[in-house]
Amino acid sequence: MFHVKKGLDFTASHEGLVVGIFEKPEKFTGELAELDGKFDGQLTELVKSGDLSAKLKSITKVHTFGKISAKRIYFVGLGKEKDLSFEKLRAALGRVFKQLKVNKQGETAVYLDTFVSEALDSLDAAHALSEAMALSTYQFDGYKQKSNEPEKRLEKVTVYASAADEVDVQASLTVGYAFGKATNSARTLVNTPGNLLTATDLANYASELGAKYNFEVEILDKAEIEKLGMGAFLAVNKGSVEPPKMIVLKYQGKDEWTDVIGLVGKGITFDTGGYSIKTKAGIVGMKTDMGGAAAVLGAMEIIGEIRPEQNVVAVIPSTDNMISGGAFKPDDVITSMNGKTIEVLNTDAEGRLVLADAVTYAKHHGANYLVDVATLTGGVITALGLHTTGAMTNHDGLYEQVLEASVEAGEQMWLLPLFETEKERVRNSKVADLNNSPGSEGHALVAGAFIGEFTEGTPWVHLDIAGTATTSKDYDLGPAGATGVMTRTLALFVERFEPIEK
Ligand code: BES
Ligand code: ZN
Ligand code: ZN
Repeated sequence: MFHVKKGLDFTASHEGLVVGIFEKPEKFTGELAELDGKFDGQLTELVKSGDLSAKLKSITKVHTFGKISAKRIYFVGLGKEKDLSFEKLRAALGRVFKQLKVNKQGETAVYLDTFVSEALDSLDAAHALSEAMALSTYQFDGYKQKSNEPEKRLEKVTVYASAADEVDVQASLTVGYAFGKATNSARTLVNTPGNLLTATDLANYASELGAKYNFEVEILDKAEIEKLGMGAFLAVNKGSVEPPKMIVLKYQGKDEWTDVIGLVGKGITFDTGGYSIKTKAGIVGMKTDMGGAAAVLGAMEIIGEIRPEQNVVAVIPSTDNMISGGAFKPDDVITSMNGKTIEVLNTDAEGRLVLADAVTYAKHHGANYLVDVATLTGGVITALGLHTTGAMTNHDGLYEQVLEASVEAGEQMWLLPLFETEKERVRNSKVADLNNSPGSEGHALVAGAFIGEFTEGTPWVHLDIAGTATTSKDYDLGPAGATGVMTRTLALFVERFEPIEK
């Protein structure tokens, strides 16, 4: 896919050459000046006349008419050098790779040095480049009968780099590509409809992932789940003909099984709402209710690739939430794995139920830190919109680490409060220890507070991705549909994790 070469070879033939350009280059410098020289200074003229914009993310295609052996140059505007961040660079590169895809180019070259700034070296640029390329050219093929014309895909990218060691650049490209590819795996899981991705299918996928990366795999079937007393998880599955699966993957990167990070992902393959049934409009799209599970599996894929010195246990409770004569109902009282009883007031508040037992089970596997990810509430969309993941925590230090990872990944999140008032609301039941839905005010907060009841003092961060797991519009780094959100944040969090002093 990526071939790294030292220096810039104007005689090599390429379908395209991708070149970065910063705003206000009084004149082109370095190899850009050399390139300009090949055009007798006409590139400088284009900039002056405004035909070649360096505005962030503007793409200008220039034909070379044989002045150099590449057929066309794609100039990518990078804005002012001092303002360029990793995220902006990645978005700009995403946009140009999208353009290459539209133009059906199977091959291109990139001049990496032109994307380097004071804050971002060639290794950062290489990571941004390969990640952007994987993300922005993603497509979910769906299930339409194939047309005869084979889709032409960008398959070969030559990366010219002079500023750094080729081996280091190649390594950075490989890592960035792994981050992008794993995000795409998460996207595909989320885009796949519920009839084609049951809990059993998700478990099989996880098993294959585990086999590929040498993770320890444990898939609990219904009988084992019953034996362990996961009554909250089982309640949600009761209306289904599909058996539930509790999916566990373990990655041990340290000598001892200590400082274990538990990643818990909601894996509801379809959410009808159960007897508290969703509306005709509200039910469409509920195949994406396993977005948390997908993010955790995506993160595990990256972890399998980069193999950090960390210990991770991934726990995914998976089932659909269906209706039948056997389904659970409002007013039912159920008993969770840790013994707490729960009054069910709303069967559509099923995510917190399956996560309750998953959190308990992650602790059974030795998790000392917990991060759960879930398409949990419509309430988080009301609170934060469609571009920001809602977070909650019982430990500021742990949250700080998750937040830092999210900034690096370019995935926005915002901390919502976990007050006693909301804890009291989920503890308010006449017949049980907890209730799963104490009324519609502050949905997102009570959902998080409910899960918090099962962490029992373990540092924990909760991420509600109901708004961010999917998007209705194409964007620089991908098409409409699943975003794969939190895959990269979780992986970076794990990679950089520093155990918290007790
Ligand atoms: N899966 C939904 C949340 C959701 C909503 C995800 C929109 C993606 C997009 C969740 O299980 C749910 O139904 N939540 C309810 C909770 C309520 C019944 C307490 C909600 O937020 O409306
Ligand atoms: Zn629901
Ligand atoms: Zn749900």
